[in-house]
Amino acid sequence: RSTCAATSSTHPLLRRRGYSSESAPERKVAVLGAAGGIGQPLALLMKLNPLVSSLSLYDIAGTPGVAADVSHINTRSEVVGYMGEDQLGKALEGCDLVIIPAGVPRKPGMTRDDLFNINAGIVKSLATAIAKYCPHALVNMISNPVNSTVPIAAEVFKKAGTYDEKKLFGVTMLDVVRAKTFYAGKAKVPVEGVNVPVVGGHAGITILPLFSQATPKANLSDEDIKALTKRTQDGGTEVVEAKAGKGSATLSMAYAGAIFADACLKGLNGVPDVIECSFVQSSITELPFFASKVKLGKNGVEEVLDLGPLSDYEKQGLESLMPELKSSIEKGIKFANQS
Ligand code: NAI
Repeated sequence: RSTCAATSSTHPLLRRRGYSSESAPERKVAVLGAAGGIGQPLALLMKLNPLVSSLSLYDIAGTPGVAADVSHINTRSEVVGYMGEDQLGKALEGCDLVIIPAGVPRKPGMTRDDLFNINAGIVKSLATAIAKYCPHALVNMISNPVNSTVPIAAEVFKKAGTYDEKKLFGVTMLDVVRAKTFYAGKAKVPVEGVNVPVVGGHAGITILPLFSQATPKANLSDEDIKALTKRTQDGGTEVVEAKAGKGSATLSMAYAGAIFADACLKGLNGVPDVIECSFVQSSITELPFFASKVKLGKNGVEEVLDLGPLSDYEKQGLESLMPELKSSIEKGIKFANQS
């Protein structure tokens, strides 16, 4: 690695510490739901990532077009589109990382939990295929409700005897991306340098941004912190309402998903000190799954970091989110074990 120069681009997706695209290990990445609102821009962003050598684009419809389009981009990875369930096995075989943005998005007036009935079944069937065709892959779950779909996937993997808690991630990165953007705006600091951990889960009040730990520090009032917290929690709904029936966040989600996938790949490749927030199996609270800062390594989760010091406001937020998060987790587990 020491012989490789970083590329000169300043964009985080293209900037590589310690690898050039020629020397990075071969990595196959699949996007399941690749023809969707998130899937298409995510396919584009993963095609731009020099850590990917093979990009597998799967959906129940539309993937030949997306794959042909993306494949013309002159970057490292070879792109193949797979369509329909009989091609799912080929799409997954040999994968190091599987990203799942498959399923229906929210419309105005819906909560993420309203998506449960349709998306739970989709996630269950995709997880079953992952257990069969690429049981050792890292899984990045984007499909909502993440608070339930991650436990569903865990149960499916347990039944198949392939569960490795270090390899299953609920993608909460968009909450972090939003918290950073909103904080930078309020604190009037350059957004590139901002860090804000977001913990808990990925729906409404279960999203708990820890602005008391935000860097760089800013002297924001309690009212400002409350407003920032609420805006982060309602960020998804802000987009759903603005899109007025045409879906939920897709472009910002694709960005967040690509950043998180990149962090997972860096961890797999042995880059040190890769830390991002994610909803994972956890023992830092009494709940079996919880989002917090996670250190990523060669086997996925290397360490689940604890919450750190919380303000009184955050302590209250933590207490109020626990019952809802608990019931969403239980709902997922129950669904996976029935039928
Ligand atoms: P979309 O409807 O535009 O795309 C979903 C895609 O999934 C479609 O192309 C559809 O054909 C495909 N699909 C359906 N069943 C499938 C199956 N069995 N196998 C493979 N693909 C299948 O929806 P969009 O906007 O891309 O959202 C996708 C999911 O991501 C939704 O559940 C949404 O709630 C979630 N989401 C999660 C966020 C997060 O922060 N984790 C943020 C925004 C959305």
